[in-house]
Amino acid sequence: MVFDALIKIFEKDPTVKRHLLKTVSWRAVGSLDTVLLGWFITGQISMGAKIGGMELITKMLLYFFHERLWHKITFGIPSRSTKAQKVRNENAANLFQNDSKVSRHQRETLNDNKSFTIWLTGLSASGKSTVAVELDSWFFKNGIRSYVVDGDNTRIGINSDLSFSKEDRAENIRRVAEICKLFNNAGTVVIASFISPFEEDRVKAKTIIGHKDFIEVFVDASIETCKIRDTKGLYKLAESGKLKNFTGIDSPYEKPVSPDIHLHTDIDPADSCLHQVVDFLTLNKLIVFQTTDASMTL
Ligand code: ADX
Repeated sequence: MVFDALIKIFEKDPTVKRHLLKTVSWRAVGSLDTVLLGWFITGQISMGAKIGGMELITKMLLYFFHERLWHKITFGIPSRSTKAQKVRNENAANLFQNDSKVSRHQRETLNDNKSFTIWLTGLSASGKSTVAVELDSWFFKNGIRSYVVDGDNTRIGINSDLSFSKEDRAENIRRVAEICKLFNNAGTVVIASFISPFEEDRVKAKTIIGHKDFIEVFVDASIETCKIRDTKGLYKLAESGKLKNFTGIDSPYEKPVSPDIHLHTDIDPADSCLHQVVDFLTLNKLIVFQTTDASMTL
């Protein structure tokens, strides 16, 4: 029974096993020392053994709970970004950028379209995925090479080691921005669909991708609308306290300061949102129509 319970605790949090082993190993050394000191000072080995024995039990308990308490305190532990910066500095001198013979411009010419990233930001269930899928299929129909890079998908794959803490969300956005940049360099239009709730992270993504290649689209729907839609049932979970750090509930969403496009998905239907993005791209000469009438292809 106790054994099974312990196994379950270890599976849930492997650091408990580490702290238990540390407790036993340190106490064995410490209490042996006490026995020897007690023997040396009193001249009686039995006295040393008594003190050492008492200490073994009480200090093991104290040590274990002290260790568990410190485990919860992050003070003094270097953050992910500090560790990453250290590795970056160590590697910097030994890494060299390899350039291709084929330029991005040549790839764009071959594809017959410019490459850029449409960055969709908004609450969960705001409609980012719907807009992304519509845009992607519109691009496909119009002979423009595009690809959707989506939060859920990348978190299942390349970013499966990241949580929803502020720091991990920053790392999530940094990695996917690097992916978008690669796709753009390969001549492909990217439709990036991420909650990306923090302005600071979106600014960093824009810097990685390049200011002229980054089109920020605020997919706006009120939190009330998103809660009603609750397509994945996550708002319900978050409100019941079963899902922590959920954007809009117990984690903030910072609205974009000056998005290139502001979609209102609680008012406008999907095809209207699609029109608004396509109009922006046409106006800014990011896409050139093969057909003479743009509206025909929508
Ligand atoms: S971001 O904040 O780091 O940009 P991202 O867009 O990658 O988030 O992932 C969001 C998706 O993860 C949501 O669509 C939702 O399905 C899922 N998800 C699971 N837990 C959370 C959470 N705590 N907060 C937000 N989304 C979550």
